[in-house]
Amino acid sequence: MAGSGSGGLRTYTDAVALISGGASGIGAALARALVAQGARVVLADRQLELAQNVAGGLGERARAVALDVREAEAYVEVAAGVLEREGRIDYFFNNAGIGIGGLYEDHSLDDWRYIVDVNLLGVVYGISAVYPILLEQGFGHIVNTASMAGRAATPGLSAYCATKHAVVGLTRSLRIEAQGRGVGVSAFCPGVIRTEILKDGGVYGKFAGGMAGDLDEEQLERARPMEVDAFAKAALIRVARNQEIIVLPGMWRFFDGLYRLIPGVLSRFMAQGFFKEYERIAQARSSG
Ligand SMILES: NC(=O)c1ccc[n+]([C@@H]2O[C@H](COP(=O)([O-])OP(=O)(O)OC[C@H]3O[C@@H](n4cnc5c(N)ncnc54)[C@H](O)[C@@H]3O)[C@@H](O)[C@H]2O)c1
Repeated sequence: MAGSGSGGLRTYTDAVALISGGASGIGAALARALVAQGARVVLADRQLELAQNVAGGLGERARAVALDVREAEAYVEVAAGVLEREGRIDYFFNNAGIGIGGLYEDHSLDDWRYIVDVNLLGVVYGISAVYPILLEQGFGHIVNTASMAGRAATPGLSAYCATKHAVVGLTRSLRIEAQGRGVGVSAFCPGVIRTEILKDGGVYGKFAGGMAGDLDEEQLERARPMEVDAFAKAALIRVARNQEIIVLPGMWRFFDGLYRLIPGVLSRFMAQGFFKEYERIAQARSSG
C-alpha cells in the first residue's frame, strides 16, 4: 500500500489507532492486541466509563473519549483531537455497532431508523471525520466492522443485514477511490464472536419476538463462537496484509466462498431450516 514505509503507516509499533466501540467486545480486544504490539489507542464509545476502565487496564498507551457515533460533528472533534494530541492517525477501526433482531414484522420503523443511524450513518460519519486526515497525511488504514450478515442473507436480522451489506459496499467502493492515495480500506466480516452483542444485540440493541432474551451457553456453543482476543489477533494480521474483506473465524470463510458460488442453493436451504431453528430458539429462550 502506498504510504507504508518509513514516515508512513506503522504496523503496529508506535502506530496510533482510533477505535469506535472500543469499550467492549471486538473494539476492546483490538485495543489490547494493538497495545501489546506497541501501538497507542484511543477508545471512543458511548459507554465512557467502561471505555475508561479498558484504557486504564492498558496503561499510558491507551485513553478513552466519549462519543456517540450518531453525532457527526462530535466525531469530527474526536478525530481532530486524536490528530492534535497524537500527531497522526494510522488506523481507524470504525467498529461501533448494535444488533436488532426479530422477524421483519417485529421491526418498527424507529428500529430501522435507529440501526441505520448507528450501523450505517455512524460508519459514514466516522469516515467523513477521519478520511480527510488520512488523505492529508498520505497514509492510513480504515477498517469498517461489517459482518457475515454483510455477505449473505440473514433471516431474523433483516435490518442488521441491510446495514452490514451497505457497509461492505461502502468499503469496497471507498477502497478503490483510496488506493493510490495511500489509504487502505478494509472490512471485518466476523461470523460469531463471543461478545455482548450476542446478548440481545448489545447494551444498546434489542432482539424482539421469538429472538428476545439471552441465548444460553449451550445455544451459543452451537454457533461455535470465536473468542474475541483470538479474533483481534488474527484480524490484525490480515489488516497488516491489507486484505479487503476479512472473514473470521475460518469456518465462515468456507460458507462465504460457498455462498458466492451457489447463493440460490444456500438460500433455499435457509428457507427450509429458518423457521424450525427460529421456533427452537424461541422455545429455549422463553424456557430459559
Ligand atoms: N460479536 C459478533 O458475533 C459480531 C459478528 C459480526 C459483526 N459484529 C460487529 O462487531 C462490532 C462490535 O460489536 P461487538 O461484537 O464487539 O459487540 P459489543 O456490544 O461488545 O460492542 C459494541 C460497542 O459499540 C458501542 N456502541 C454502540 N452504539 C454506539 C453508539 N451509538 N456510539 C458509540 N458507541 C456505540 C457499545 O457501547 C459497545 O462498546 C459491531 O459493529 C457488530 O455489529 C459482531
